[in-house]
Amino acid sequence: MHFIAVVLACSFVALSGASHEWGYPDLDSNQDEPFPNWGGLCDIGKKQSPINLHVKGALKGEFPSLEFKNFDEHQKKLEMVNNGHSIQLSGFEHELSLSGGALLGDFVVEQIHMHWWSEHTINDIRYPLEVHIVHRNKLYPNISMAADFPDGITVIGVLYHVSNQPNPAIGSIIKSLDDVKKYSAMNKPTKVKDSLAVSDLLSSVDGYFTYAGSLTTPTCAEAVTWIVPTETFPVTLDQVNEFKEIEYDEGKQLHNNYRELQRENNRAVVLVQTSQQKSAAALQLHCLSLGALLLLSLVANKFLF
Ligand SMILES: *[C@@H]1O[C@H](CO)[C@@H](O)[C@H](O)[C@H]1NC(C)=O
Ligand SMILES: [Zn+2]
Repeated sequence: MHFIAVVLACSFVALSGASHEWGYPDLDSNQDEPFPNWGGLCDIGKKQSPINLHVKGALKGEFPSLEFKNFDEHQKKLEMVNNGHSIQLSGFEHELSLSGGALLGDFVVEQIHMHWWSEHTINDIRYPLEVHIVHRNKLYPNISMAADFPDGITVIGVLYHVSNQPNPAIGSIIKSLDDVKKYSAMNKPTKVKDSLAVSDLLSSVDGYFTYAGSLTTPTCAEAVTWIVPTETFPVTLDQVNEFKEIEYDEGKQLHNNYRELQRENNRAVVLVQTSQQKSAAALQLHCLSLGALLLLSLVANKFLF
């Protein structure tokens, strides 16, 4: 009996030890430092994330609209943790659910974390910050189980662009960062001081890319339906720099935590646009042809008279 307990304890230590072994190159110290191999599916998978999302290479898609439930509820009991790889929020009071779009079934928000710089790029452009809103398919009892199934997880990847205008939602996360920045506070969840509604992080989803990919951290499970809105939101570089101060080891700061781009391997990347965006595009086209007509008639007038 004791023997079993010891073996179990040892394998637990070995497992949790292993989770600290993977990491990111410190690109602030050496921009040529290669991204390490994380092993397993991370190295041999064929549907890995992140990827570059091209508007031109995407397939046009039409789906019912995404349905967000409780995303605008003010969360008053959120917890924040520095897990050595990111800053993660959890402890949502009301069940936040996502359905519709190309999704089959209901997904609930499990946790939110961030990457600095962005993991996905759009038209080869990298953004300073990407927030991941991680959802579990309600069919499965927990996220580790969900990671075993291709329809197990949906992640909304929200991109932020550089601006002079501080982002209030990111600002309210930053307010609690000091409590978790130090290595001594790593893996110790603390209460988030400000209340925050998840909808503050993405005011709307007008159009988005969607594709089948993976978690961007080990185990790199290929269980993720990605949703990356085409609209990006403002953040200042000063705000992003606050995240770069979190420690993953004594005196060592996590200067960047994005994974390098993965091979697309001829996967379908679908671009879904809302009817609003489409009518805006149609209006532009309409105006363009009206303009052309006007020009034509002017030219015709000139020649006729
Ligand atoms: C997830 O759920 C399965 C099935 O109920 C269970 O065996 C497993 O221990 C759970 N894992 C975690 C991490 O809670
Ligand atoms: Zn992530």
